Amino acid sequence: MNIMAQIAIPDHVDPDHVVDFDFYNDPRYAPDVHEGIAKIVAESPPVFWTPRYGGHWIIAGHAAIFQVVRDTETFSSAKMGIPAPEQEFKQVPINSDPPEHAQYRGPLNKVFSPKAMMAIQDEVRALAADLIEKVRADGHCDFAHAVAEPLPVSIFLKMMGLPLDMLPQYRRWVGEILISNDVQVRGRASGEVIASMSEIIQARMIERRNDIISTLLDTPIDGREVTFEEMQSFCLLLFIAGLDTVMNGMSFGVRHLAKDPALQAELRANPARITDAMEELLRRYTFTMPGRIIARDHEAFGVRFKAGERVLIMLPAADLDAREFPDPLKFDMDRENKVHIAFNSGPHRCAGSHLARIELRILYEEWLKRMPEFRLDPDKPAKFHGGHVIGVDSLPLVWDPS
Ligand code: HEM
Repeated sequence: MNIMAQIAIPDHVDPDHVVDFDFYNDPRYAPDVHEGIAKIVAESPPVFWTPRYGGHWIIAGHAAIFQVVRDTETFSSAKMGIPAPEQEFKQVPINSDPPEHAQYRGPLNKVFSPKAMMAIQDEVRALAADLIEKVRADGHCDFAHAVAEPLPVSIFLKMMGLPLDMLPQYRRWVGEILISNDVQVRGRASGEVIASMSEIIQARMIERRNDIISTLLDTPIDGREVTFEEMQSFCLLLFIAGLDTVMNGMSFGVRHLAKDPALQAELRANPARITDAMEELLRRYTFTMPGRIIARDHEAFGVRFKAGERVLIMLPAADLDAREFPDPLKFDMDRENKVHIAFNSGPHRCAGSHLARIELRILYEEWLKRMPEFRLDPDKPAKFHGGHVIGVDSLPLVWDPS
């Protein structure tokens, strides 16, 4: 079967619950991905089916998403990719369901604890300052490449104990895994990452260092030693999660600020509000859409799910659902409801959220403190991509250098 082709609507799917939606390249994503998502959620039922990529379900309503992410017996994380990969590489804890999930999540809660993450604040701030000072006198930069990519990615590589000079190659692999909807490209890149991580794991098995891989090797799982395969599985997930996500958050946030000089001025005058701004930016520009697989035939939300069907959890749609967040496209730091789902909810809630929040807050603080008023480059529009992680490929900015 050509997985790109649209398939016929199966008998158990009610045509009223069918919406043609291509989460990699939907035409409604242009000119603005999140405005497109808000339109899709406003026009569609909270749960719908699309004939794209072999056919799959989409959970788009706020209430439906909160229900689905907690019902792990029906909506399993054992298989998540859409289209279905040719070979599934198990990543823990993300591909394990409760109760197994807890044994893999425990070690990550330890390495990414709030206390451990507070300890790297000075390092994040120093690198942010350095990267910003490199572009400040130029009057322009591609923020995505000059700051958003090197800042969190270098910090993450150092924490993991991975070589910094591999950054460009690592980023190419992550791009192929996350942006491509070609299962062969994704499978090949995942294999390359596993091979590369295996070499580092083997080196740390011989000689420990002060890094996450060494700590995980020394952290028992359910009272026994972690296996080599489990280490590969941890490392593949951390690699994908750590080398991409935060940079997109930074670019979406700074793009918003570039379009709103009054907000820039307000936050410069009152930096204590940057945390509130950061949370509202995470809501307004929620950018991940994890997958699930139906573990058993099940009826809910007026539809019939069949075991083996794939499901896309459209987290940005929950955060742009007007039933939950009135006037959802408006940026409003004083919203009554501040509980967004950018890091998901339930057992798989992001393990790296403390790290991500520290990096985002420090970036906004340093950028606003060091830069004059900045705006989008009128001649070079920003570029984006869709997929399981919606991302910013380039963000050209301009300012009047002082
Ligand atoms: C702004 C940045 C980030 C966002 C928006 C984000 C978002 C998410 C989301 C939505 C999930 C849940 C996936 C699911 O339900 O299947 C998740 C899980 C996870 N994230 Fe993040 N993430 C970010 C940064 C990071 C970073 C920096 C790391 C680590 C270096 C990380 C590590 C993880 C891990 C290990 C999981 C799996 C947790 C589990 O299955 O128990 N994330 N993230």
